[in-house]
Amino acid sequence: MQRLRQGTRQGALIAVEFIEVKFIEIKSLQVAQVHPERTSGTSGKGSVLMSIRIIRTGDDPVLRQRAKPVPLINKAIEKLLDDMAETMYDADGIGLAAVQVGVAKRIIVVDVGSGLYELVNPEIVEKSGGTQVASEGCLSLPGIRGDVPRSVNVTVRGLNRQGEEVEIKASDLLARAFQHEIDHLDGILFTDYLKPSEIVRVSERETRQR
Ligand code: NI
Repeated sequence: MQRLRQGTRQGALIAVEFIEVKFIEIKSLQVAQVHPERTSGTSGKGSVLMSIRIIRTGDDPVLRQRAKPVPLINKAIEKLLDDMAETMYDADGIGLAAVQVGVAKRIIVVDVGSGLYELVNPEIVEKSGGTQVASEGCLSLPGIRGDVPRSVNVTVRGLNRQGEEVEIKASDLLARAFQHEIDHLDGILFTDYLKPSEIVRVSERETRQR
């Protein structure tokens, strides 16, 4: 992966060129990231231990709510970001939306093996490259997977935890993860794209969101 940092009119713009990573490699990277002895140390004094939150599943109504924009990134939002990343890594997932931990705010975390993205009020501002179909699962829908069409490339804009606008250019699995997580903010689940016959039953261990 190559990161390019460029100047822009409205603060930092980070363009990320994502090199396709095979799922096997991602799995092994993720294993190394499970239970890292981390604390939320970047935001100043008195680092607070992260907490693993309960992931809402199935018919929980919060999963169908339209999440609200975050007007201000305060300590509570920073703690939520920390907890969401911890919860995602603990569950061996590659993305998590705040609604999945019962908080109807427009916040996502994504890590497909190329580093953690934390985004507040994320939006997809551009799609390109046509669509590709690949298998997806969701930590909120254990035991099922299905083939979902997604845009190959997306540009995502949002705020980082410092409240700065960032823009991310993503492709393939990373683009898919952003599309899946941003869908959660509008109450959309991957199964909404599928006919009942296209939903595949798998073991809970195989329900890895990607
Ligand atoms: Ni999901």
